[in-house]
Amino acid sequence: MTAGTRHGQQMARIIDIEADRQAALEAASAALADGFAIAIPTETVYGLAADATNPAAITRIYETKGRPRFNPLICHMADLAMAEEHAEFDPVSRALAAAFWPGPLTLVLPLKPESPIHSLATAGLDSVGIRVPKGFAGALIGAFGRPLAAPSANTSGAISATSAAHVEADLGAKLPLILDAGPSAVGVESTIVKVEGDRLRLLRPGGLAAREIERVAGRPLLRAKTASAAIEAPGMLVSHYAPGAAVRLNARAVEPGEALIGFGSAAVSGAEAARIVLDLSPRGDLAEAAANLFDYMKRADASGASSIAFSPIPEEGLGEAINDRLQRAAAPRD
Ligand code: TXA
Ligand code: MG
Repeated sequence: MTAGTRHGQQMARIIDIEADRQAALEAASAALADGFAIAIPTETVYGLAADATNPAAITRIYETKGRPRFNPLICHMADLAMAEEHAEFDPVSRALAAAFWPGPLTLVLPLKPESPIHSLATAGLDSVGIRVPKGFAGALIGAFGRPLAAPSANTSGAISATSAAHVEADLGAKLPLILDAGPSAVGVESTIVKVEGDRLRLLRPGGLAAREIERVAGRPLLRAKTASAAIEAPGMLVSHYAPGAAVRLNARAVEPGEALIGFGSAAVSGAEAARIVLDLSPRGDLAEAAANLFDYMKRADASGASSIAFSPIPEEGLGEAINDRLQRAAAPRD
C-alpha cells in the first residue's frame, strides 16, 4: 500500500467512495487480501476491518486499537446467504435477519464447525456475532468474498468514530487505508441479541430499538445486566467511550466552564456561562441524537472543558443505546 506522509509520519490513504467507488473497492480488497486492517464506513460507526479468516490480520486489529485483550469480534457478512455458511440459524434469528439485514442488528449464533472464521475473531467461543452492514461495506464484503471482523475504528476505550476525519485523527498514522463515506447515519453501534431456546436476550443496546426487535420476534427482549451477561459480552467494559473530560449525566444546570450537551431544547440553567453548548437534537428526535452523539462528545472534549454535562435523555427507543454509552463514558476509569 502507498500512503501519504504528513509531518514526516506515514498517514493513511483516504479514498472518498462517492468520488471513486471502484478505486475504493479495489484498494480495499487488495489491502484486505494482504492481511491489513483498514477503516471502512458502516451505517452504525466506522469499522476497523480485517479478514476474519486470517489470524495475522485479526491480530493487526488488536494492535491498531491497542486493545488489551482478545474479545470476540463481530463478523460482517455480505448477506444472509453468506452468514448461513458460517452460523446455524434458528427460526427467530432468521426472521430477525430477514427483517433487519442489512442494518444495525448483530445476532449471536452457533458457529458452524466447518466455518473458516478464525478462533481469534470468536475468542475461541463456539458462537459468533454476525451482522450484514448497509451500503458500501456490504458490497466490499461481497467483492472480497470472506467475512470481515470489525470493531469500531478507534483506540480501545475511546469514543467511537462516526466519520473518516475521526478515524484519521485517532488512527491515521497506524492504518494504510481509510474509506470515507461521510458521517455514519445511525451513529451508535449495532444492537446485539442472542436467541436461547424460547428466550431472546439483549446483549448490547444499539442502533436498532429493542421494541422493533420485539415486534418481529413476538417476544420480549430480556435485559440481563448481570455478571454473566458481562462475561458473555466481554467487550462491554464498564468504562468505555471515554472523552478526556469528566462526564456528568442528567444535568439540570451547568457549571461555569463546563461543556453542555443538551437534548430537545431543554432549558439548562447556567448555559450562558458554558464553554460550549450543543444540542443532540433540538426537536427531541432520538435517532438524530444517536447520529450526533459521538461527534458532539468529541467536539465538547476539544473545547477544553474539564467536564461535560449532559441533559437527561429519555430511555425509550434509541435512548436506551444512548444512555448505555453515556453511562460507560461517565463510569470510573482505571
Ligand atoms: O455497529 C457495530 O456493531 C460495529 C460496526 C463496526 O459494525 N462493530 C462493533 O464490533 O461494535 P465489535 O467487534 O466491537 O463488537 C463486539 C461486541 C462485544 O460486546 C462482544 O462481546 C460481542 O460483540 N460479541 C461478539 N461475538 C460474540 C459472541 N460470540 N458472544 C457474545 N458476544 C459477542
Ligand atoms: Mg468500540
